[in-house]
Amino acid sequence: MDSRPIGVFDSGIGGLTVVKEIMNLLPDENIVYFGDTARVPYGTKSKEIVTRYSFQCIKFLLENKVKAIVVACNTASASSLDIAKQSFDIPFIGVVEPGAVAACNMTKVNKIGIIGTEGTVSSGAYEKAINIINNNVKMVLKACPLFVPIVEEGWQESEIASLTAQQYLHSLKGSGIDALVLACTHYPLLQNTIGKFMGDSIRLVNPAFETAKALKQMLTESNLHNCSNDNCADGSVKYKYFVSDNPVKFKKIGENFLQKPINHVEKIDIERY
Ligand code: DGL
Repeated sequence: MDSRPIGVFDSGIGGLTVVKEIMNLLPDENIVYFGDTARVPYGTKSKEIVTRYSFQCIKFLLENKVKAIVVACNTASASSLDIAKQSFDIPFIGVVEPGAVAACNMTKVNKIGIIGTEGTVSSGAYEKAINIINNNVKMVLKACPLFVPIVEEGWQESEIASLTAQQYLHSLKGSGIDALVLACTHYPLLQNTIGKFMGDSIRLVNPAFETAKALKQMLTESNLHNCSNDNCADGSVKYKYFVSDNPVKFKKIGENFLQKPINHVEKIDIERY
């Protein structure tokens, strides 16, 4: 049993979709979340910059004595997870591999669609992860950058969201895929809109949910759970939120992502790390 928190970071607010799934699946775990709101988006930045930023996020979380780190950002997982694993002595979970595994299990026709930021799409990380699992799978990738601001505005069910989905996804719809990975932290909030447009024959993969499942498995295998079913630590789970800018905005939008109140958000100077 290990009561230290799980560290989670993202380029900003989007990683809260992963936090939400962790809270549901692992309700006894304490969480420290860092959102790099001063430097978001990561999705348009180079691998070198995203890796430097990710390392600073990791150092901040380590200072908070976390027992494992979830890289809850597709862009950061795609560009920096491998090197982070080699550089820091702590268990890591990224969002790419769990999403890739779920998509491979889901497809019956060996053809998968992947949508994400420009950084994630151009990194080749999903192709690499999927090919390791099944090298017969064909993939169709598409960057959908406008989805991020639409979700942050809270417009996920709007006509603007539907029209944007139509514009981005019409080529994917006719491409013969039967599974579509929502490979950006924000996209699970567009699940209804995307699902409505793609239709029932294309199943959506939510890497946020798959990541929480992978984390649960990792904690069990390494005996790192805070609580083992009937033997819970002290029942008072703590969630702490830190950002590099704009805590008030984070709290407001974050409550929409989490569907629960956020009590306090602290601003820190990430350049110190
Ligand atoms: N969190 C990012 C991701 O999952 C989306 C926002 C950004 O570009 O930073 O790729």
